[in-house]
Parts: sequence; C-alpha cells; structure tokens
Amino acid sequence: IDIYSDGADIQDMKKVIDYGFIDGFTTNPSLMKKAGVKDYLSFAKEVVATFPDLPISFEVFSNDFETMEKEAKIIHSLGSNVFVKIPVITVDGQSTAPLIKRLSDQGIFVNVTAIATVEQVQAAVEAFHEGTTNLVSIFVGRVADAGLDPTDFVKESVAICQKVPAAKLLWASTREVANVYQAAQAGVDIITVPPAILTKLQNVGKTAAEVSLATVKGFEKDISSLGFS
Ligand code: E4P
Repeated sequence: IDIYSDGADIQDMKKVIDYGFIDGFTTNPSLMKKAGVKDYLSFAKEVVATFPDLPISFEVFSNDFETMEKEAKIIHSLGSNVFVKIPVITVDGQSTAPLIKRLSDQGIFVNVTAIATVEQVQAAVEAFHEGTTNLVSIFVGRVADAGLDPTDFVKESVAICQKVPAAKLLWASTREVANVYQAAQAGVDIITVPPAILTKLQNVGKTAAEVSLATVKGFEKDISSLGFS
C-alpha cells in the first residue's frame, strides 16, 4: 500500500518526508484553514516546488461546474504531479460526475473526494477517461464516525476499482495506525494519514515486549518531573 501524508502544514510535510516511507500528499480546505494557510495558490505553489516528484492533491473551492472547471485547470497547471480534488457532490447534493468526465477527458488527473457510498465510487470510476490515472477517496473514518460499519463499503469499493485501471482507491479519514493494516489487507491502493499517526507508524516493527518496555520507560521519564508525597 502507498502511504500519503494528509495535512497542510508545510513544516509537518517536510518532517514526515524524513520518515522515509511517504509516497505522496493530500490536502483539503479544512486542513488548510487549520494550518493557517492564508493564500491558497501561494501555498500550493510552495508545496509543489518543495515536493516536485510526489503526487499531491489540492481541492477546488467552488460549487458551480463552470468555476470548478476554471479552478481545476489552474490547479492542474501547477505541476505534473498534481491531482485536482473534486467533491463527488456539490453542497446542494448534485452529482459532479459530468464535471469529472469533462476534466478527465482533458487529461486532468482527478481525485474524487468526500465519497461515502458505493454508488458514489461507481459513478466516479465511470467518469474517468481510459488511460488516465485518477484517485477515488473514500472517507472511511467519517463513515465510521457516523456509527456505520465501513467494512462492506471498503470491500465493495476495492472490487469496483480493481476493474478500472484508471482508478486508484484511496482510504481517507484515517483515525488510527490499525487503519493502515486494514486498508492494506482489504486491497486498497493508497491510504492518507495525518502526521500525528504517521509519527506512530514509526513504531511498526517493534515486538510487543519492546512496546511494553518503551511504555514503562516513557512513564519513568515523565515521573521524573512529578513530586511524590
Ligand atoms: C483526504 O484526502 C481527506 O481530505 C482527509 O483524509 C479527511 O480527513 P478527515 O475526515 O479527518 O477530515
């Protein structure tokens, strides 16, 4: 499975690259707001200039197809490693499949985002132009956050995407390290992971005994700053 970093803080992006296992990046408007990004395009340009060889996704901001297409072209022009995130529906609930088709037909690499149903996965892959590479971002964590079991959603999404060479399935909304194993086991192509969880992923390879020892050492370190009376 490929592992992407999910965030919009450029310092975090530089830091996680040093872990040596990052294959790409995803961002979204909420992550940009959280990271304090002031100017979208300057931020995107800086990220592309810093990581010119890794796949990076940036989302369009608008909701009408015409403006979305204009934004998509600008974002696409930033670099050959850039994917344009198009939400699978508009805020009014309208399917963006016709727009995705238009963009994909023009050779724009699309990352269809905010997907939460199998029907949305199906509609996305049907819109991809043959011979192109596009991403299908399933928001597994958000589905689970809503109290829904995402197991079948993941399984069926894998089955759909495996039949479509133009589609790579991306597990988004990662909530814990275990999700990386679940995604890999299910046959998902890519998982995007927040930096805080990527940091934990560095523990991978430790034995259970080593985890226990590291735990008590951590307690000991923190105890040293506490009084006992
Ligand atoms: C990735 O492309 C998504 O933007 C991201 O994983 C969303 O994560 P969240 O549900 O934690 O906001």
